[in-house]
Amino acid sequence: MHKIESYLPQLEAFLCAAIRADDAVSEAMRYSLLAGGKRIRPCLALEFCRICGGDVDAALPVAAAVEMIHTYSLIHDDLPCMDDDDMRRGKPACHIQFGYANALLAGDGLLTLAFETLSTASLPPERLVRACGILAQCAGHLGMIGGQTMDLANEGQSVGLETLQQTDRLKTGKLIEAACVLGCVAAGAAQFQTDAAVQFAHALGMAFQIVDDILDVTSDDATLGKPVGSDAAQNKNTYVTLCTLDGARQAAQQYTNDAVAALAPFGEAGETLRQLAVSLANRSM
Ligand code: IPE
Ligand code: IPE
Ligand code: MG
Ligand code: MG
Ligand code: MG
Repeated sequence: MHKIESYLPQLEAFLCAAIRADDAVSEAMRYSLLAGGKRIRPCLALEFCRICGGDVDAALPVAAAVEMIHTYSLIHDDLPCMDDDDMRRGKPACHIQFGYANALLAGDGLLTLAFETLSTASLPPERLVRACGILAQCAGHLGMIGGQTMDLANEGQSVGLETLQQTDRLKTGKLIEAACVLGCVAAGAAQFQTDAAVQFAHALGMAFQIVDDILDVTSDDATLGKPVGSDAAQNKNTYVTLCTLDGARQAAQQYTNDAVAALAPFGEAGETLRQLAVSLANRSM
């Protein structure tokens, strides 16, 4: 069976080569981008590309672009005006290491570099244009940024489960959706494959954020690579605060089952993604 980890060496090499300059902001961008991280989103993009019959090498810049946007979102998410966390990926957060202004600019730099990188992919122009629009939309104010806005507005408020679900669908689900759909677009996938990828991404995105909420309560800083207890410190609404730890675990399991079910149209070819979804539900970081 195809192993999801097999993508990591090419991906790391590509990301390493992506930022060459050595001014302060380039250094901050490189520091955060190469600090580790699970690389789930680019692996999703590459695996969807593969199972839809695409050229994985040609999709590498597309996958890297998604990871750049994700890394930028983490740099900004950690700033004092957002979640105020001083550790990320097992190292001092970008703004702790390089100062607030450089962290802000490193985030902006990675966001911009993502689209520059995407534009270099050797794909038919119509696929490239489609990928560009989808990535911008999913990352933007009606996507991930919209979710981050809701997440901050929810702080200290009494919100219902529907509001929390909408927040999670946007802040975490949308970029995971972009990753899965961009893999399909790079491959020139059939509509039924893209539809299945969207269903999978919606369920996986929810499961992913719920487990993240659980780990904020049950893990420790060293294992997680970021501060535990951060959600409580910021008065966040999370699946754990709204549904209890048990309720959150059940919801994560249900969404993981839904994600696996969504892979049915891929048959045997979906096995790697099935295993990834199950392992993410049981992850410790
Ligand atoms: C953390 O994402 C932010 C969330 C959306 C929960 P990841 O858990 O994928 O972070 P890295 O990339 O592995 O550091
Ligand atoms: C972050 O959610 C979502 C994005 C960065 C878009 P969290 O705030 O829960 O992520 P962590 O826990 O800091 O990684
Ligand atoms: Mg946050
Ligand atoms: Mg955070
Ligand atoms: Mg979190």
